[in-house]
Amino acid sequence: MSSQIDHLLDEDRRFAPDPAFAANAVAKPELYERAKADREGFWAEQSRELLDWSTPFTQVLDWSNPPFAKWFADGALNVAYNCLDRHVEAGHGDRVALYFEGEPGDSRAVTYAELTDEVKRLANVLTEMGVGEGDRVALYLPMIPEAVASMLAVARIGAVHSVVFGGFSADSLRSRIDDAGAKLVITADGGWRKGKVSPLKPAVDQALEDRGGLGPQATVEKVLVVRRGDNEVDWIEGRDVWYHDVVPQASAEHEAQAFPAESPLFILYTSGTTGKPKGILHTSGGYLTQAAFTHRNVFDLHPENDVYWCTADIGWITGHSYVVYGPLANGATQVLYEGTPEFPEPGRWWDVIEKYKVTIFYTAPTAIRGFMKQGRQIPQARDLSSLRLLGSVGEPINPEAWMWYREVIGAGKTPVVDTWWQTETGAIMVSALPGITETKPGSAQVPLPGIAVDVVDEKGEPVGQGGGGLLVITEPWPSMLRGIWGDPDRFVETYWKMFQDKGYYFAGDGARLDEDGDIWLLGRVDDVMNVSGHRLSTAEIESALVAHDATAEAAVVGASDETTGQAVVAFVILKESFLREHSAEGLANDLRAWVGAQIGPIARPRDVYIVGELPKTRSGKIMRRLLRDVAEGREVGDTTTLADTAVMSVISAQVR
Ligand code: PRX
Repeated sequence: MSSQIDHLLDEDRRFAPDPAFAANAVAKPELYERAKADREGFWAEQSRELLDWSTPFTQVLDWSNPPFAKWFADGALNVAYNCLDRHVEAGHGDRVALYFEGEPGDSRAVTYAELTDEVKRLANVLTEMGVGEGDRVALYLPMIPEAVASMLAVARIGAVHSVVFGGFSADSLRSRIDDAGAKLVITADGGWRKGKVSPLKPAVDQALEDRGGLGPQATVEKVLVVRRGDNEVDWIEGRDVWYHDVVPQASAEHEAQAFPAESPLFILYTSGTTGKPKGILHTSGGYLTQAAFTHRNVFDLHPENDVYWCTADIGWITGHSYVVYGPLANGATQVLYEGTPEFPEPGRWWDVIEKYKVTIFYTAPTAIRGFMKQGRQIPQARDLSSLRLLGSVGEPINPEAWMWYREVIGAGKTPVVDTWWQTETGAIMVSALPGITETKPGSAQVPLPGIAVDVVDEKGEPVGQGGGGLLVITEPWPSMLRGIWGDPDRFVETYWKMFQDKGYYFAGDGARLDEDGDIWLLGRVDDVMNVSGHRLSTAEIESALVAHDATAEAAVVGASDETTGQAVVAFVILKESFLREHSAEGLANDLRAWVGAQIGPIARPRDVYIVGELPKTRSGKIMRRLLRDVAEGREVGDTTTLADTAVMSVISAQVR
């Protein structure tokens, strides 16, 4: 891996905070000073201010056995109490916690009092089913209030949840249930997606099929099933239990017991460089502290006025930290939407924003680029004037998408915060703070107060301003992963080995520091190409391609090339209006020249393939590995994690 990433794009647009916004902003510049003066003291202060500790902690960070951190270790708290009961006790029981919007159009407002009541009953049910402290519970659910209640009920009794995204197959579910040794599965008959009920229970049944006494049959005792889709399900007597048969009947008396700060809260599986997913382990006190702190400050949350909406599924870390734990710890009112952005028509998300007068909106660049492709007339036909803050997460946001987001969705005035973090970091690490930071389209910008990152070369030496290299986290942080479930060696190997002597966490991302020291993410380092000895970022070339008027979406890979080592190969989706007026071949040539002009001749793609779709995972990440197979003329590899597995044969045919 080289430290030199030649970043040749020039982006000089700047947006200073609006003084009126700044005057009212939650985050004040003093946060940076306080954190700089005493990092651990700062986190201790935040934790005491944001959370209710049943046993106050006296220790902050214990880093005596790196990389295994402990935060607030002698304190005890109940995570669910912090997300629910205390808001009710403070007189906010009538505040809406969740505005649930089902895809078919059904809706339901759930107050903090109601959600607390539901979680207490469910906690009693789980205890009765034999689930206790430290036991693992797998959740395989649609985006419905019961999913949020299930996570909190598991947390309330000191058990550990492992949410498996509802789009994963029975096989993926099985391997996750096995790895965690789950005792209980909570699922639903199905959830609404694109106008149909997408079944869930059959995958659970398949995952739990007897395999000769091995596997989950040995650990899973019960399956609790929520009715959402009203479709037929197979039923295994003695194992399967309807949620509606037990939860409403259960007692609503349940006193939350406090658990030590380092009690495991959840496992969340994420893919690494090998085929086997990693079970990322997060614990309670530190995680909740940073989730709450970042949610409050990055999104400028005023819980009494704001309506917040994060579009992530609870199957991903964003759904954990910014649908469940951060917002609820802060007493926020939020929208929970079940379905897809296109149902019954492409404007559905904007309808939801108009209906609930959403003020804070958090989504992913891939969605934003999808909306750009459909055209601005769709959002412009809705009233989006309630919006006052926009956030982005998941991948580098190219300046054009950032500008479109601000101008078309944010009426040219809302701050846009690009938030960099990972499943492993648990909470946002790098982001502008609204009201303080002058924002730059395409840059994630600065580490949050209390967070220490750097961009270094492969020896761990800082590249300095203007340089490119590898993003590292140089100091432990409260919501850091505590390990990989059942595999401490892999934890050390994957994240800490690279810069062992410095004690840095290696994030796996390439980044550049600009002349002001602001951070620009350049994609995973495995997505970095080496063309004629020059390091080039796929993200950078994609950004240039997308900046061309004709381009709707683009993915770039480095394909091996006899003369240049690697060559840039681009897969581009064009806007329909351009395809009607120009030949695909002409446009492909224009795009090659365009990238050459934007970045430099070295970045000019060897091939530009005009395609109709790109291979994406369910979470919207482009699977470049598959495109590399096509670009290098190989048979296409494993496509099982694609949202649409047929897409690769279409692309291969188009390229041929
Ligand atoms: O490459 C970075 C990218 O997503 C990776 C983490 O993925 P995941 O664990 O699935 O979590 C996604 C949601 C937090 C990172 O290593 N990434 C995430 N946010 C950004 C980003 N890349 C650039 N800019 C971001 N804002």
